Amino acid sequence: MGDVIDDWEPFYRATADNPVRPLCLEAIATAGEPHDRLAVDLGAGAGRETAALLDAGWRVLALDGAPGAHLRIEAAVPPVRRDRLTVVEQSFSALDRLPDAGLVYAGYALPFQRPEVFARTWSPIRASLRPGAILAVNLFGPRDTWADDPELTTHSPAEARGLLDGLEVLALREEEREGVAVSGPKHWHVLDLLARA
Ligand SMILES: C[S@@+](CC[C@H](N)C(=O)[O-])C[C@H]1O[C@@H](n2cnc3c(N)ncnc32)[C@H](O)[C@@H]1O
Repeated sequence: MGDVIDDWEPFYRATADNPVRPLCLEAIATAGEPHDRLAVDLGAGAGRETAALLDAGWRVLALDGAPGAHLRIEAAVPPVRRDRLTVVEQSFSALDRLPDAGLVYAGYALPFQRPEVFARTWSPIRASLRPGAILAVNLFGPRDTWADDPELTTHSPAEARGLLDGLEVLALREEEREGVAVSGPKHWHVLDLLARA
C-alpha cells in the first residue's frame, strides 16, 4: 500500500478491546435512520466500526488495503449481519469510484497515503455522498510527529475546511496530545471532520 506502517497486525491486536471510535458514533447519530442506505468504512482495520455501523442498521462497504481484510473484518461481524456487509481489500491508491453512500466514515486511515494519492482518493469520496449524507473523517495536522514522513498527508484546519467546500460543516475539531502509537510515544495532532452533503 505504500504505507509508513507496513504491518498493521500489532495495531489490530493492541486496539482489539478499544471502544467504537466516538467520531463513528457521532456520524451514526447524526445520519439518522439508515433506511437501506449504504455506509462506507474506509481503512476499516479490524472491523470494529464496521460492526457498529451494521448494528445501527446500515449496509456497509468496508475497504482496507492490509492483507487479510476479508477474514479480519468478517470475523468482527455476527453471521446474521454479514448479508449487509461487503468487504473490499484494496489500497486507496486503486480507488477510482465508490457507490452512492449515506455515510462515509474514515477513522485514522486517510492520512496514510502520499499527498498526491490523497488528492485522488478525495474525489470518489466526495462523489459518493448523496444529498444529506454524512462524512466523518480523521486527518492529521502539521504538528503530528509523523508529519514529516513523505508517505503521509497532513492538513491544516484551513486546508481541511477546503476539503469540505460545498458541504455543511457540522464539526471541525483539532486535538493535540502526547500519547502513544503502537510504534511508541508520539505527539498526536488530529483533526475530526464531520459534514453533511
Ligand atoms: C490506524 S488503522 C485505523 C483502523 C480503524 N479505522 C480505526 O479507526 O481503528 C488504519 C487502517 O487503514 C488501512 N490503510 C492505511 N493506509 C491505507 C491505504 N493506503 N489504503 C487502504 N487502506 C489503508 C490500514 O490497513 C489500517 O487497517
